[in-house]
Amino acid sequence: MKIKTLLSPLNVDELYFTKKTTVVIDVLRASTTIVTALNNGAKEIIPVGSIEFAMKVSGDTFSGKTILAGERNSRKIDGFSLGNSPFEYTKEKIEGKSIILFTTNGSKSVVKAKYSSKLIISSFLNSKSVSDYISDISYLVILCSGNNGLFSYEDSVCAGDLIYDLFKRNKNIDLDDASKTCLFLYEKHSENLEKMLQETEHGKDLIQEGFSEDLSFAAKKNSVGIIPIYSSGAIKISK
Ligand code: MLT
Repeated sequence: MKIKTLLSPLNVDELYFTKKTTVVIDVLRASTTIVTALNNGAKEIIPVGSIEFAMKVSGDTFSGKTILAGERNSRKIDGFSLGNSPFEYTKEKIEGKSIILFTTNGSKSVVKAKYSSKLIISSFLNSKSVSDYISDISYLVILCSGNNGLFSYEDSVCAGDLIYDLFKRNKNIDLDDASKTCLFLYEKHSENLEKMLQETEHGKDLIQEGFSEDLSFAAKKNSVGIIPIYSSGAIKISK
């Protein structure tokens, strides 16, 4: 197996992902929230790249059967029903619903990687299930959503978590430089992921905004056993 890790979506275009198996990560908080929403019974998540498109999709295509969700500057968008905190995605609110999700980095990364032959969403919550699922593929791209085109420490540590698990099974994995760095970072922080999240730039911003519980939640490694797969415009649980 060969693993290539992209530390941000900035330097690749959509066609780069054609015929590739890709794992998208946005630990704080989009991928953590997507995993939680599906685990709590959402029918599907429809990731979008702009607020305008979110409004259009909810108005035109699904007429009233959807929930508009997402954030701008970590806060719920005016007129949307849910923000981007995993705690908002309770069974009562989202069971059976299609959720149209716009976020600053995470939903855009999924949209960017949409031509992948297989597109999987990972977080600390479900990384073990994801590594089981992809353990026998020959070439893997890990896309860290980053922070407005820049590096995101927590996404790299989460990529390292996945790589660590794959490496445990197969010592012949060929890692590019970014993947080696992610593995190194994960090994440094694996004993205290919550503390690592608290010390990141985005983690500090979220604490400032009153979302410190979201960090504890995002650090709950292997607490969820699902594999979210994007296909034909929506993310659903792989059966
Ligand atoms: C993003 O997509 O940039 C994040 O999920 C932002 C957030 O913390 O809500």
